Amino acid sequence: EINYFFPKQQTLAVIKPDAMEEHRENILEEIRGSGFCVTQLKEMVLSRQMAEEFYKEHREKPFFSQLVEFMCRGPCMMLVLTKENAVEEWRAMMGPTDPDQAKATSSSSLRARFASDILHNSVHGSSNEQHAEEKIRFIFSDISSDTEPKTDSKTER
Ligand code: TYD
Repeated sequence: EINYFFPKQQTLAVIKPDAMEEHRENILEEIRGSGFCVTQLKEMVLSRQMAEEFYKEHREKPFFSQLVEFMCRGPCMMLVLTKENAVEEWRAMMGPTDPDQAKATSSSSLRARFASDILHNSVHGSSNEQHAEEKIRFIFSDISSDTEPKTDSKTER
């Protein structure tokens, strides 16, 4: 079967609370400069419940409660990035989880430059396509999570 299209891939990128004040513009500029198309974007403060759900894969880890606390301490920027091979390319741009390792092995990565430690590591990116789809749906289809329903109707539903 011949595939005439090179379908673009999507990933979920998050600018975490530690990077929002000082590095957000920088990060957004680098994302755009690297050929990603930002197809969805929103700033939001995660509730504790949402942060727990978002990182549910790490529920049993010793750092889970710190991670949840950190992720809801202030606004995050949620982005859907679209590009061929987006998942892997965004992971490469972020660099390793631990900024010390990032500085040693990929010094131009975002975490090498902006992260302060393994918890406060500035950015998130889905680790595979399935996670990407799941987390994009979780963050971008829950319209009631950060806004009131926009309706003038007085009718009860
Ligand atoms: P993980 O999914 O392993 O890393 P990544 O974000 O690179 O995919 O971990 C999720 C987040 O949990 C990570 O970004 C920061 C936090 N974390 C810690 O605080 N301590 C740790 O030892 C690890 C491995 C992660």
